[in-house]
Amino acid sequence: MRFAQLWRGLRVARPPLPPEFSRPGHGEFEDVAEHYDRLMSTVPYRRWVDYVEALLRRHQRQPRRVLDLACGTGRVGAELIGRGYEAVGLDLSEPMVRYCSSQYPPLPSAVMDARSLALAPESVDLVVSLYDSLNYILEPEGLLGCFQGTYVGLADNGILIFDLNTELALRAGLFTQNNLRSREPLKYSWKSYWYPDRRLCRIDMWFCWEGPGGPKEFEEVHYERAYPNAQVEQMLATAGFSEFSTYNGYTFDRPTSESDRVFYVALT
Ligand SMILES: C[S@@+](CC[C@H](N)C(=O)[O-])C[C@H]1O[C@@H](n2cnc3c(N)ncnc32)[C@H](O)[C@@H]1O
Repeated sequence: MRFAQLWRGLRVARPPLPPEFSRPGHGEFEDVAEHYDRLMSTVPYRRWVDYVEALLRRHQRQPRRVLDLACGTGRVGAELIGRGYEAVGLDLSEPMVRYCSSQYPPLPSAVMDARSLALAPESVDLVVSLYDSLNYILEPEGLLGCFQGTYVGLADNGILIFDLNTELALRAGLFTQNNLRSREPLKYSWKSYWYPDRRLCRIDMWFCWEGPGGPKEFEEVHYERAYPNAQVEQMLATAGFSEFSTYNGYTFDRPTSESDRVFYVALT
């Protein structure tokens, strides 16, 4: 084991929070972008999209035009295009968005901040945002702005589907993990810290690419915010959504205190 890896494993003290959380600026989804799809190679995106389609059937929506919001490298949007939808992706990270065109099928995409969306009114039927992307919005006013912009962009009979990590997940150190014993060319060691007073989880991420051109080390610091269910529903109502439902991740069951991921469905 390299010294740097060992040191990562030993570090336990909680680092201080930076004074401000204005975005962008924590180096999130920059260096990691070129490795993201490899890192997510075991993520069952196809099954996630099956679940999204099951939610659409349950809520009797048949969208054609889809926005994959905070699309990252575009895996969800590309899967939707493959199933016959007209999808586009938006994400804050230019390095992530760059990979949308290499998906199969490619996902048309652009850089945009979800907190201040500029969507043409009634231009999409479904907005989908998966993999706790909206937890990355750290200020409640930013999440409200996201819902308001989404509402404007959705047509009549539109639907918003997104998932959030719960406080339980962020408190329990979901992100503290490493693959240092694997044979993967991209090694990582992550440590997460929970700040209850700010409802924030800070994740210190260390990576080392040991494939061609390596070794190359890099670090990113990510933050996610935990939003109580009541606050999310209040914001959805303020944004104009008339009806919303919550589900324990990938089921049709109600979320419980044990839920680590909650899906939200909001209707226009
Ligand atoms: C965990 S990744 C998930 C990406 C993608 N949804 C997926 O399922 O693979 C979170 C994504 O949220 C994006 N993101 C974070 N804050 C954002 C914001 N304010 N506006 C748009 N995208 C944002 C990041 O750039 C990143 O691509």
